[in-house]
Amino acid sequence: MKGVILAGGLGSRLRPLTKITNKHLLPIYDRPMIYYPLQTMVSAGIEDIMIVTGGNSAGDFLRLLGNGREFGLKDIYYTYQEGEGGIADALKLAEHFADGERIAVILGDNIFADDISPYVRAFERQPSGARILLKEVTDPQRFGVPELDGERIVRIEEKPKDPKSSYAVTGIYMYDGRVFDYCRTLKPSHRGELEITDVNNAYIAAGDLYSDVLRGWWTDAGTFESLHLANRLVAERAGWSEAAVTAAG
Ligand code: G1P
Repeated sequence: MKGVILAGGLGSRLRPLTKITNKHLLPIYDRPMIYYPLQTMVSAGIEDIMIVTGGNSAGDFLRLLGNGREFGLKDIYYTYQEGEGGIADALKLAEHFADGERIAVILGDNIFADDISPYVRAFERQPSGARILLKEVTDPQRFGVPELDGERIVRIEEKPKDPKSSYAVTGIYMYDGRVFDYCRTLKPSHRGELEITDVNNAYIAAGDLYSDVLRGWWTDAGTFESLHLANRLVAERAGWSEAAVTAAG
């Protein structure tokens, strides 16, 4: 299966941090943000990877990652998003690369504790369709939120004021070859973007969307609060502790 990492956008919620650089190059503890989704894919055995970038500092991705040797890759594919059309608009740029095959898509600002291999293998066993990963959160209003009927997802709402569940749709999406046809049918949302949530709702309408609930922690890093949280979670995983720093200081 091929992988697509979406790392464009203006990162406007993180200004001025993103005034002169791309959000996905900002540090999360001891590494640039983009390292985490890349490692998540490679650890799940996905080795054909395209990075969709754009906006500020697009060329820096090439200087930083090169052909991905540090990650054990032979090469990395890059493409450039002109303008700001949203996640599904960025995804459209990967159609050529996907070439009709199944793809795993990950948002470049999403950090996962879990090894996603079991979910990717479950998707490979699906005859067709899409698979998304959910996580229970305390602030579902910030995310795509599924309305559930038992374990079945009836609908997903993007950033609802009145969420129908306490789950967030996380930024890993697995799609069959139909995804680009669905992308072509989308209309811009009220925030002027082609929403990935509308792609997932198209799969729901076709009766072909499946999901898993993540076990480990997950966070995005697109706001000051979540960027700070991501740094803390990764630092703690690496053995950092505030007490040790305070004692040393
Ligand atoms: C995007 C998606 C949203 C999803 C989130 C995960 O939100 O639109 O459905 O829950 O990523 O990080 P955005 O980061 O564009 O606000």
